[in-house]
Amino acid sequence: MKSTSAIIVAAGSGTRMKSSVPKPFLTLDNNTILYHTIQRFLPVADISEIIIVTSSQLLASEYLRVSIPKSAPIPIRTIAGGKRRQDSVFNGLQTVNPDSTIVCIHDGVRPFIDPGTIARTIELCDQYDGAIVAVPSTNTLKEIQDQRIVKTIDRDIIWQAQTPQTFRKDILINAYKQAFRAKVTGTDDASFVEQIGGRIAIVAGGPQNIKITSQHDLLIAQLLLEEGAR
Ligand code: C5P
Repeated sequence: MKSTSAIIVAAGSGTRMKSSVPKPFLTLDNNTILYHTIQRFLPVADISEIIIVTSSQLLASEYLRVSIPKSAPIPIRTIAGGKRRQDSVFNGLQTVNPDSTIVCIHDGVRPFIDPGTIARTIELCDQYDGAIVAVPSTNTLKEIQDQRIVKTIDRDIIWQAQTPQTFRKDILINAYKQAFRAKVTGTDDASFVEQIGGRIAIVAGGPQNIKITSQHDLLIAQLLLEEGAR
């Protein structure tokens, strides 16, 4: 057993869809998106605790209460997040069980991650400093300045980072401390570990691991559930 803490970020502090409900708490098949996300982590043998990071205003909310499965086999704790995603993760890192040697970070709004893929990222921490889920880019990317193309980037070497992103705990904490010292803002955890020279492996993600950030994504999520992604 590799004692792993899972941090699920669900601050819901970003833009809202049509409804006033923060995205991780929108309903999908009678449960919140966050509820579905948590379910994906429960079958992973190496995960010994789940830390849900949400905004302080939501900590005592009904949204959060109904999102936590009632009889989970491992502890599920809830804590307050911060202004940026990285502040939320950093708060989570402060409360990780001291026995954990690995930390797995996941977006609360990616409810279709396959438990086997989560387990694979944990396994790879034996050989690497971390492992993240990513998908090859299907679009050609352009670098632009002032609305004009300055460069075309070879699609064959471009992958899009997703979550989970899993790291050896000590390395991840060092990377976060360094990022805060250097006042670096990043949108994914791997970027901080890269900056301290960490070696990070890629696990190819499936097409279902979508991040629900728009009304369009929510419609796709409903279709995926109907197709049996639950
Ligand atoms: O904003 P972004 O799309 O990167 O959000 C990805 C995930 O990070 C979402 O699950 C969101 O709830 C979470 N997040 C957070 N704390 C923030 C901002 C985003 O937990 N301050």
